Amino acid sequence: MAMEKLCTLDDVWEGDMDSFEANDGREVLVVCLDGGAVKAFQGVCPHQEISLVEGELKGNVLTCRAHLWQFDCTTAKGINPDDCQIAEYPVQVTGDDVYVDVANVEPFTSHS
Ligand code: FES
Repeated sequence: MAMEKLCTLDDVWEGDMDSFEANDGREVLVVCLDGGAVKAFQGVCPHQEISLVEGELKGNVLTCRAHLWQFDCTTAKGINPDDCQIAEYPVQVTGDDVYVDVANVEPFTSHS
């Protein structure tokens, strides 16, 4: 485990998302779902690597702005299409600090 501090809870309010750069340079999307659960996902869409933070979060559903692929942020699985998914990174919240471990999870890509 190589947890690194990416942001604080003040950076990502409930029902909101933002992206941050991990120490290895990869983009990480941090989402705070309704109810306060904090999730971290690959920052770029598995379809054609558009930044997911430029998309829309409605409830638990994240929609990529480019071609409207949708993902369920509670499971990281694709909704439309339903045979894709985004990589989810382990998250730990300590006080107001959000720590994420990106070391052993590779982002998904499809290029289709
Ligand atoms: S790049 Fe995200 S849906 Fe195409």
